[in-house]
Amino acid sequence: MTASPLQSFLPDFGSPGAETGEFAVSPIPAVNVASVPQRSPLRYPGGKTWLVPHIRAWLGRPAAAPAVLVEPFAGGAIVSLTAMMENLAKRSVMAELDRDVAAFWHAALREGAALGGLVERFEVSRENVIALSGENPRNVVEHGFRTLVLNRTRRGGILAPGASLARAGEAGKGVASRWYPRTIMDRLDAIAAVADRITFCETDGLKLLESLLSAGCEDVAVFVDPPYTAGGKRAGKRLYAHNEIDHPRLFRVLAESGVDFLMTYDRAPEVEAWVREYGFSAVQVVMKNTHHARVPELVISRRPVFSHVD
Ligand SMILES: C[S@@+](CC[C@H](N)C(=O)[O-])C[C@H]1O[C@@H](n2cnc3c(N)ncnc32)[C@H](O)[C@@H]1O
Repeated sequence: MTASPLQSFLPDFGSPGAETGEFAVSPIPAVNVASVPQRSPLRYPGGKTWLVPHIRAWLGRPAAAPAVLVEPFAGGAIVSLTAMMENLAKRSVMAELDRDVAAFWHAALREGAALGGLVERFEVSRENVIALSGENPRNVVEHGFRTLVLNRTRRGGILAPGASLARAGEAGKGVASRWYPRTIMDRLDAIAAVADRITFCETDGLKLLESLLSAGCEDVAVFVDPPYTAGGKRAGKRLYAHNEIDHPRLFRVLAESGVDFLMTYDRAPEVEAWVREYGFSAVQVVMKNTHHARVPELVISRRPVFSHVD
C-alpha cells in the first residue's frame, strides 16, 4: 500500500510495531465519562462515551465532516447522537439487530413525546419493573419504554438473557438507582430535535454496511463497534443477545471499500493480525473496567488519524 502525500508528513503514530505486535498509545486518553455530555438515554454495556474525544478528533478534522455517518452496531448510539448534536456529520444511518433495542430507537426517534410521557408517569419499584418485564407491549412506544426501563434497572444495563435486576445500586437505592426521569426526558427531547437527520434500520449491520458501501462511499464515514467476540472472547456473548459476527468479513468489507472508518475492538491476536493484514492503523486506549482493571482497547482506522492532536 502506498502512503498518501499527507501521510508521509505524519509520524506513524498509530501503526502497529511490526515485530512485537505492540500498538502506540493514543495521544488522546480515554475520557472520564462524567466529563462529556451523556447523550443516550440507554445505559449501554460497552457504550462508547469514553471515546467521544477520539470521535471529535476523527470527524472534526478540517474538511472531514462527512455527509453521512454510518453506525452499523448502534447499541446506545452514543457516536451517532454525538455526531448529530455536535454537527460532526450531516446525517446518520444506524442499525441494530436486537428487536428490544431497536424498538427503543424506533420509539425515541419517531414517538419521543409519547415515550417521554411514559417515563414521566412511571413509578419505579422492584414490583413495577418485574410486572413490566412480563408484559407484552401493545405498540412500539410501550416496547421501547420496556427496553428503557429494563436497561436502566438491570445490573450493568445488560439486556441479554440471564441479566438480573440491580440490587444495592447507588446509595442503596436498588432498581431506582439509575432511573432519573427528568434527565432521561431531557435526552429524549434532544434526540427528537435531531431525529429527522437520523435513519434507523432494524437489521443486520454488516449486511447494511455491505449494501451501502457497494453503492459508493464518497462522503461517508463508518463507526464500527461490534460485540467483542473475535478470538473466542466472551465479553460480547454475556452482554448482548446478538453477538455472532463474521469478524473477518467485517474487516474485509472495510478494507475493500476504501471508506473512512473508525472501529473499536478489544485486543485479541486475531484482531491484531487482521489490522496488519490490511495495513490498517491502530492505537491503544487504556480503559478501566468496572473492576478497576486496566484493559487496553484498540481504536482502528484506515490511516493514522490521531497523530495531529496535541
Ligand atoms: C458494543 S455494542 C455497541 C455499543 C455502542 N457503540 C454504544 O456506544 O452504546 C454492539 C451492539 O451491536 C448489536 N449487534 C450485534 N450483532 C449485530 C448485527 N449483526 N447487526 C446489528 N447490530 C448488532 C448488539 O445488540 C449491541 O447492541
